[in-house]
Amino acid sequence: MNNAHTAIAHPNIALVKYWGKRDDRLIIPATPSLSLTLDVFPTTTTVTTDTHLAVDEVTLNSQPAAAVVKARIVAFLDLVRELVHTDTKAVVNTANTVPTGAGLASSAAGFAALAVAAASAYGLELTQHDLSRLARRGSGSASRSIFPDFAVWHAGYDDESSYAEHIPDAKVDVAMVIAIVSAKEKAVSSRSAMRHTVATSPFFDAWMDASVADLGEMLGALSDGDLTAVGTITERNALRMHATMMSADPAVRYLNGDSMRVLDVVQDLRMSGVGAWATMDAGPNVKVLCAAADLPVVTAAISECVGDDQVVIARPGPGAALQPVQPAVTGLDASA
Ligand code: PMV
Repeated sequence: MNNAHTAIAHPNIALVKYWGKRDDRLIIPATPSLSLTLDVFPTTTTVTTDTHLAVDEVTLNSQPAAAVVKARIVAFLDLVRELVHTDTKAVVNTANTVPTGAGLASSAAGFAALAVAAASAYGLELTQHDLSRLARRGSGSASRSIFPDFAVWHAGYDDESSYAEHIPDAKVDVAMVIAIVSAKEKAVSSRSAMRHTVATSPFFDAWMDASVADLGEMLGALSDGDLTAVGTITERNALRMHATMMSADPAVRYLNGDSMRVLDVVQDLRMSGVGAWATMDAGPNVKVLCAAADLPVVTAAISECVGDDQVVIARPGPGAALQPVQPAVTGLDASA
């Protein structure tokens, strides 16, 4: 029997950000968030359970995973094992096509793919809703990558009530131009930077209030098909998140001079009448939201700023999905 279970998931970029937890263990966020799943940088993860294994084995891009990465994946498998009451260990092979830990949502795609593959490997039949809750336990933003294109993550107050869902009535035709100003792994993880911001920023309460208001306005703008409002809320919410982390003590700063140069280009585009709005996560890379029809002009401007080979064009992408089981290779060709 082939018990290798493979899933593919894509990163999502939040247009209304998640920054700060109410509960660190269960990963309950302080505020709701909203994102766009992309069609680039997929992560493919295979989970194979094996009753002969004494410990889990984890590879990332064909290399044994670093201790911290392995520990997070093993902790996640433990949650799945707890649900099915088993001790069976597993081999996890994961391959991503996005620079890991560079603020390009590698953990969102990674834990969404792992949730889908591990649930299947351990025989858990979960709804999308429950897969989202499970993925959340690996990395909060992964709860949103279960779904295609636009998703909202309801903050909730406990494990049951904190989940993401697809937004079916979004009426905007968008694309994202990603400016990769650095593919280096970030020095401070989003997990510890969030904790530090919650503990030390005098602006954190204001961030929470503003973000909840942004989410309400964003849902209205999406269902009205008002791209200018969607873009305006996106950029202001990202800048407010970065302002809040820069107000921590000591400051957390992910943006660098190159990020600021891209922000200038985005502002110039708007001044010239082109709808383009920037958003940045836990890293210096800038993602520029625009109408799909404006991709040529926005891509040209961003490429001129950072170089053609540093630009990736993304469109709304699919939700996380299990791959069909490949027939086991036996070496015998029945048709011969
Ligand atoms: O899920 P995490 O721990 O990788 O945190 C993601 C945080 C941001 O990317 C900065 C914002 C977001 O909502 O995705």
